[in-house]
Amino acid sequence: MNSYREYFTYRNGTLYCEDVPLEAIAKEYGTPVYVYSSKCFIDKFTQLDDALSKHPHLVCYSVKSNSNLNILRMMQSAGCGMDVVSGGEIYRAIAAGVDPKKIVYAGVGKTSSEIELALATGIRMFNCESLPEIERINAIAQNMNKIASIAIRVNPDVEAHTHHYITTGKKENKFGVSLQLLPDITDVLQKLTHVKLTGLHVHIGSQITEVEPFEEACRRALEVMKALRAKGMDECTTLNLGGGFGIEYNDEDGLDIAKWAASIDNTIKDKDIFLIIEPGRYISGSSGALVTQVQYKKKADIKTFVIVDTGMHHLIRPTLYQAYQHIANVTLREGKEIVDVVGPICESGDFFAKDREISYTEQGDYLAVLSAGAYGMAMASRYNSHPLPAEVLVEGDRYRLIRSRETYEDLIARERV
Ligand SMILES: Cc1ncc(COP(=O)(O)O)c(C=O)c1O
Repeated sequence: MNSYREYFTYRNGTLYCEDVPLEAIAKEYGTPVYVYSSKCFIDKFTQLDDALSKHPHLVCYSVKSNSNLNILRMMQSAGCGMDVVSGGEIYRAIAAGVDPKKIVYAGVGKTSSEIELALATGIRMFNCESLPEIERINAIAQNMNKIASIAIRVNPDVEAHTHHYITTGKKENKFGVSLQLLPDITDVLQKLTHVKLTGLHVHIGSQITEVEPFEEACRRALEVMKALRAKGMDECTTLNLGGGFGIEYNDEDGLDIAKWAASIDNTIKDKDIFLIIEPGRYISGSSGALVTQVQYKKKADIKTFVIVDTGMHHLIRPTLYQAYQHIANVTLREGKEIVDVVGPICESGDFFAKDREISYTEQGDYLAVLSAGAYGMAMASRYNSHPLPAEVLVEGDRYRLIRSRETYEDLIARERV
């Protein structure tokens, strides 16, 4: 089970992250503030790392889910590699001290300068999504007198049973190379002098809670790998199974990792295959809460609105994916009420919850929006010119600021008049 409940708990009616009351953090650093449990990050990484113990493997944390430098540093110290999707993420990973040989680089739109940076950095491998991309990598590697190690991302056309915005392994998605087109690509690839095919990559989507789609994608990728090796591409030995492991947001079950690991063990018997996984949400999702303060309680004709000091600009998941985020009062009061929890942004889509029964709140109360560690701060914007929130990392009974709150000066710092 992967839930915020283990790391954010009530003690005598007060919500804690590990051993720190959230109210203390809100009072010291103001709101809105993202608060993260370091224990959750490490526990989830360790769980996945242990689950693959029967295979040579590397867990690469997906930087896009939460890219704060301190978090990357903590993950690399724990032994984690990194899955990156941009030059900026390569830069972050290196700044966090990650060994380049533990960095894998995906994404459909790698630019020439990003490819140059990746080659100069000496990353482990590129996860390639098209023939033109492979040709570009080959040309740049040739200019730099290097050989690029690449995996081809195959699109296995598997239904992941998740929100359509985060399904990535279907024919209609822009990601990867279809199984039908793969032979044409590998034929060209074998003639290229500065790329070496060392693996295959699949990533079928995010927040997937069933084992079967993973198993099916793995089985299809494995068949392709066997076929390529039979054709003489014997260096193709890395199988990157992507990320997408689902967590509990409401009362749904997250992915059963023991069951998933058993299916991997059953499907992959060959111990020469080096496995990579790229979990983002599974490691960061339950680790974070967005703590906010109620500004107003507005009783309208047919609803009561609880208006808080953050919104879709800092946590877009409810608006973008119709996602559920649990909302808890940092200090419990008696009673419950049905409300809409909304932000200050001039959009009707700016909400965290609609017609939701939550514990009774009053103006000035602190609320925690839970399971906000993944794709929260990472997707935050300054829309309506609200500065970005602060971020705080909790370790047991200690906590520290890992990103200071932006100021109004920060908002205009790069603008030229
Ligand atoms: C290629 C790739 N790997 C890994 C991930 C991480 O996904 P998740 O956070 O669902 O584990 C993503 C997410 O978009 C991705 O595109």
